[in-house]
Amino acid sequence: MELSLLPPDIQDAHRSFPGTLAACADLDALMRLKGAFVGREGSHAARLMELLKAAPKDQKRDLGAAVNALKNEWDQALKSRQAELEQERLRLAALASAWDPDLPPPLPAQGALHPLNRLMNRLVDVFRPLGFHVEEGPEAETEAHNFDGLNIPPDHPARGSADTFYFKGQDGLLLRTHTSPVQVRVLLRIGARGADGRSELERRGGIKFLAPGRVYRKDEIDPTHSPMFHQVEGMIVGKGIGMHHLKGTLAYAMKALFGPGAEVRFRPSYFPFVEPGAEMDVRCPLCEGAGCRVCKGSGWVELLGAGLLHPNILAYAGIDPEIWSGYAFGMGVERTAMMVSETPDLRLFFENDQRFLRTMGGLD
Ligand code: PHE
Repeated sequence: MELSLLPPDIQDAHRSFPGTLAACADLDALMRLKGAFVGREGSHAARLMELLKAAPKDQKRDLGAAVNALKNEWDQALKSRQAELEQERLRLAALASAWDPDLPPPLPAQGALHPLNRLMNRLVDVFRPLGFHVEEGPEAETEAHNFDGLNIPPDHPARGSADTFYFKGQDGLLLRTHTSPVQVRVLLRIGARGADGRSELERRGGIKFLAPGRVYRKDEIDPTHSPMFHQVEGMIVGKGIGMHHLKGTLAYAMKALFGPGAEVRFRPSYFPFVEPGAEMDVRCPLCEGAGCRVCKGSGWVELLGAGLLHPNILAYAGIDPEIWSGYAFGMGVERTAMMVSETPDLRLFFENDQRFLRTMGGLD
């Protein structure tokens, strides 16, 4: 196009037009630019039309062609930039709006496993590669399985109706106070001799299992106690089993659960069905050992009781303690869930408030 025919300021404006156009960030800026270039009055185009009118006849043809070409170029460029900015405005409006007709509708909430069940499944998954399978027992138990078979003496305070829920009018039937009666049930089964004179224990050469489930105690409800809670029992019977097997297995499992930095400690403790007995604590992840409500200021939280099987409980099931040995542990699931998810109050797990449950994805 023959620019040299035009006034110098319009030539300059035309040269910088593409840059000015691109710099228009919104429709308002574009409209101002449009007014300046092709508006009815005072615009570059309007001035060119006046020039054209006033031009000598012999220049009108060339000048007219130049002015038209220029106006067309401006119009086209302004139009396509306007379309771009309108698209952009729609896109921003859709983002800002609460309802976007292009998005798929929200699906109704789906059912899901409770976080405590998911944690128990995860525990089972941690131990399964080590050869543990799952065994189950009833929640309504007999005194024989819950106490007698576990070497718990007849006068032990845990047997009292202050600690244990008994069924009215059903002699010796109670809500199990721990998952340890599953030990007794499994020992009785694997110790029993079949027609060939051999026991399941002898045929298998040993057993490893976990027994997850609900247990009941007459405890007052508070941030760390509930009359119904969950345990996961673990047990091994074999030959030459010692405390080192117990410690190694549990330390491995805690690292799998809490991460490689998990710190555990074992303290000597007493349970009638193990000898020696121990309790295992983990370093409180809520306060990292500084002391808080959950660890009661000690920096450690007790997660489980454990020990080597007392000879009496093997003998109760007809298993020779001179040949067989083993270990057992019983782990508090709520305690563990509180540690894994850094939840300071176990009642949250039973209130089933969806807003809480939905935050518990980390327990998988
Ligand atoms: N049953 C015990 C409890 O509930 C825990 C435990 C299990 C201790 C196995 C030793 C061995 O406190």
